[in-house]
Amino acid sequence: MAKIVGAITTSHVPAIGRAIAGKLQDDPYWKPFFDGFPPVHAWLDKVRPDVAVVLYNDHGLNFFLDKMPTFAVGAAPEYHNADEGWGIPTLPPFKGHPELSWHVINELVAREFDLTTCQEMLVDHAYSLPLKLLWPNDEKCPVPTVPVCINTVQYPLPSAKRCYKLGKALGEAIGSWDKDLRVLVIGTGGLSHQLDGERAGFVNPEFDKAFMDSLVSDPEWVTQFSNEQIVEKTGTQGVELLMWVAARAALPGRVGLVHSNYHIPISNTAAGLMVMEVAA
Ligand code: DHB
Ligand code: FE
Repeated sequence: MAKIVGAITTSHVPAIGRAIAGKLQDDPYWKPFFDGFPPVHAWLDKVRPDVAVVLYNDHGLNFFLDKMPTFAVGAAPEYHNADEGWGIPTLPPFKGHPELSWHVINELVAREFDLTTCQEMLVDHAYSLPLKLLWPNDEKCPVPTVPVCINTVQYPLPSAKRCYKLGKALGEAIGSWDKDLRVLVIGTGGLSHQLDGERAGFVNPEFDKAFMDSLVSDPEWVTQFSNEQIVEKTGTQGVELLMWVAARAALPGRVGLVHSNYHIPISNTAAGLMVMEVAA
């Protein structure tokens, strides 16, 4: 049977793409952010995942405001990145894993999650940059991927409680796949940030740290909050922490923290990073 090895959760700011292209990893502005990743690379070398399921939110590249699925799963052989207007280089296409995609889709629908299935799907910085941060030395992402897209852009958004349940069902779906493969779950977005309006630039390190602490041992803690409360505490785009909630919920059994990093600011964003491992 397939085995979930753990989850990696990280922020996904477009400016990271420019920093990578400009080789700014040792620049004083960027160093505290990029220094978070070598322990992640060491862990990936140890657990050697065969495939990654990536929970992220699209920001208008594949879905726009006229058609906005709450939950969408990719089932394509390949996912292309495209120019989304931040001035960041596009990355080579990401290989898909249609067999795992369809298994996940069938199992999630059976568990009463009514999904949009996408046999063509463009992926934006929320997908491409975290994968580049995890495998910086490979020209192309070395593992096939399955995109799971959560609407955190146009209201109404799914609640933290709903995303937790989605993650649980996703974990069960992956665990019921009769292939001896090692699956990594990735959640991208957050942490606190607000790009627009009077509170543009708002961050909340106290809440972010409480959230990160809760994720290992009390992952349902954040489900007590409505999305309006999460926005109040973390900013309009801080609600992207929903992908972290779902990624964590996918992990079965006991979970240990392997590594974490937290740095403010990257662009407008409080950048968080966690690696959580499923106990043997
Ligand atoms: C920024 C953060 C995001 O999550 C995003 O999707 C776009 C921009 C930022 O801080 O610049
Ligand atoms: Fe974002």
